Amino acid sequence: MDKEFSHIISKWYSQNKRDLPWRNTRDPFRIWLSEIILQQTRVAQGLSYYLSFVNEFETVHDLAEANEETILKLWQGLGYYSRARNLHFTANHISKELNGEFPKNFKGLLELKGVGLYTAAAVASFCYDEKVAVLDGNVFRVLSRVFGVDEPINTSPGEKIFRELSTELLPSTEVSTYNQGIMEFGALQCTPKNPDCEPCPLNTRCDALRTKRVKDLPVKVKKTKVIELHMSFLVLITGKETVLRKRVGKGVWQNLYEFPSFVGSSSEDSKNDLGLFVSDAGLDVNSLEYVSASYKHLLSHRKIHAQFFVYRVEEIPSLLKRNTVVFEDLLGLPIHRLIEKFISDSPGFFKLDVKS
Ligand code: ADE
Repeated sequence: MDKEFSHIISKWYSQNKRDLPWRNTRDPFRIWLSEIILQQTRVAQGLSYYLSFVNEFETVHDLAEANEETILKLWQGLGYYSRARNLHFTANHISKELNGEFPKNFKGLLELKGVGLYTAAAVASFCYDEKVAVLDGNVFRVLSRVFGVDEPINTSPGEKIFRELSTELLPSTEVSTYNQGIMEFGALQCTPKNPDCEPCPLNTRCDALRTKRVKDLPVKVKKTKVIELHMSFLVLITGKETVLRKRVGKGVWQNLYEFPSFVGSSSEDSKNDLGLFVSDAGLDVNSLEYVSASYKHLLSHRKIHAQFFVYRVEEIPSLLKRNTVVFEDLLGLPIHRLIEKFISDSPGFFKLDVKS
């Protein structure tokens, strides 16, 4: 079965693959870039991000030379901004320390910042046909179903089983085609919900189909507890300007801009902190013009409830003067998704008539 499995996958791929720009190249810069983007989003959305990046940066040197804000701006909307910062860091490292040359094998690639087992295997196999297996959500799903593995995919023992199985199944040549094939097979044929098993070329050998467990595989254990946080944002506006601060502390929104924010474990706490700040800044409480509805925003381990408090003032108070941003510059700065949502819901406050 092993040889047949990889053969069936590679053949299926040659007949069914989508024509995607990163598949017409073996340039490690482009493949690395596409994989980092695709860890964040689906192909349909990732495609336009990929095209914007390669349009702006032809080589790893161009990306290295760019300033971080330009990169964050291009990344905007993908979330998990440390990936964008790692992208920049690694481009710099390759450009300056490695003479613009990507490492030529899996082991070398793994040493790059932001490159984990999956990305290193993808780049090594797609670019150099190195015999290493890629293991992403698609591959877990295909293997768990075809081979009927009900070990959870997100525990160490489970992962070990899948790692060994995926390595055993590798063909001895054209690993690039096979690895891309099994991922594409997971994305298009062996889909998470309601896969159409009737035309599947593996349907006579699929353990999950035979034992009626397609819906139950792969198995995943529930883990992380999501923490709920409340944020109140202070939106100060004059006729032409507002106030945005850059987040400096470590975290998913590091270096992104936002309205001054106040965080608490309840909405009262965060509102109180905002109120204290407002009085410290010498703002008239009567200048509060609008309070938004509550926005919910999910991050990997956080559920954020946010509210925006719009104060219309004659002049930006001195405490915040250096953070003044004129409306025209607002959308040019890298902002996180919550801020973007509020602005696009309330463009009138900022004299913007386009929805971003
Ligand atoms: N998801 C992650 N990597 C991908 C790739 N190279 N092609 C399509 N989907 C992907």
